[in-house]
Amino acid sequence: GVDNRKLRGTTGVISYDPGYGSTGSCKSAITFINGEEGVLRYRGYAIEDLAENASFEEVMYLLVWGKLPNQEELDTFKGRLAEHATLPDGVVNVLESLPNTAHPMTVAQTLVACLGEYYDDDSDEETDIIRLLASMKALAAYGYRKTAGKDYVAPNTDASYAGDFANMMFGDADGDYNVSEVLETAIDKLLTLHADHEQNCSASTARMIGSAGSSLYASISGAIGALSGPLHGGANQKVIEMLEEIREADRSLEDHIDLVKDKSSDVRLMGFGHRVYKNFDPRAKILKKAADELLPELGVEDPALDLAKELEQVALEDEYFVKRRLYPNVDFYSGTIYRALGIPTNMFTVMFVLGRLPGWIAQWKEMRDDEEQRIHRPRQIYIGENKREVTPISER
Ligand code: ACO
Repeated sequence: GVDNRKLRGTTGVISYDPGYGSTGSCKSAITFINGEEGVLRYRGYAIEDLAENASFEEVMYLLVWGKLPNQEELDTFKGRLAEHATLPDGVVNVLESLPNTAHPMTVAQTLVACLGEYYDDDSDEETDIIRLLASMKALAAYGYRKTAGKDYVAPNTDASYAGDFANMMFGDADGDYNVSEVLETAIDKLLTLHADHEQNCSASTARMIGSAGSSLYASISGAIGALSGPLHGGANQKVIEMLEEIREADRSLEDHIDLVKDKSSDVRLMGFGHRVYKNFDPRAKILKKAADELLPELGVEDPALDLAKELEQVALEDEYFVKRRLYPNVDFYSGTIYRALGIPTNMFTVMFVLGRLPGWIAQWKEMRDDEEQRIHRPRQIYIGENKREVTPISER
């Protein structure tokens, strides 16, 4: 008979590339990474420069609309964010209906998926983008307030994006805006550092869903699902859990590294390794320094930070990590900073969502505007059975 496995696709050659490590899925003008040199730039600007000299609002604008805003453009953008900062009542009702035990990433994904249903006008793409950006800080903060049994704090339209989020997260529902500059600046920088990372799993998911003509809300909701995984954004929560586990078990770092190296253990060193960075992740460098400066400033002493630094040292001197070129990634030190800021561990990945949202939107928008893009539809190498007949159930 005919061997179906030899009928490899009907239209041309198919490259077999599991995980798409060598497949360029699009042309993009948003983010540049040089993994060998540890370079990361948004629209040509170095991440170090943006983290130091631009606010997160400016970075959002830069990513989505391609240029740094002038003062007038920034004021207009902030005004539009303020206009859409209050969540529609229906979305708050959906939040209220979710169990308190739901993981904050599930909550975020659910609320983003339904957000668009609660506006009773025919909005255009730009309004959808503004609404989503404006709503995300309340979606994230209210998810936390609900499980903590605290009243929701209304958005403050005069505050910065980072400051408003911090106030809705930690503020007093009846009190005035009261966020320290240290907290606001730290959150602002963290959001900028996470704002885009070209064709990673969640951005590719947003593009993949959007390529079918699906809505912005459907695409970003899917991206949140992708980010929640422990090999992607979920790693920031896993790093802190790993450090706690090492401490509680009183395990030596060498023993933990041995466990990681033992492939049968299925344990990975969380916060280490990256598909693209093979020397260092520039975000991890900035965050390590930020953690060193910020914790004393906040008056926080966290043994997890010292443990993380020691663990990094032990790993970087180990042949296993050297050979595979595994270095700390963005998630390795971010958790110690989130914890020092008072963010609960299961909210860490939602912080990542808050930062990454403009990147996803920029990727989604670029895909929609690109005439060369068509529905994403990878091919496969079929390795299943040849054609066969259904036998009656009594004979199976
Ligand atoms: N701990 C131990 N071994 C590792 C680790 C790790 N963290 N990361 C990679 N390796 C090993 C693999 O076992 C593999 O070894 P082998 O060649 O002997 O089989 C080799 O290094 C290559 O690893 P891959 O899994 O092929 O690398 P890939 O590019 O597919 O994965 C990833 C990258 C997912 C980041 C991986 O390094 C990992 O799982 N890291 C831990 C989770 C993590 O920190 N994720 C956050 C990434 S950054 C982000 O998404 C924001």
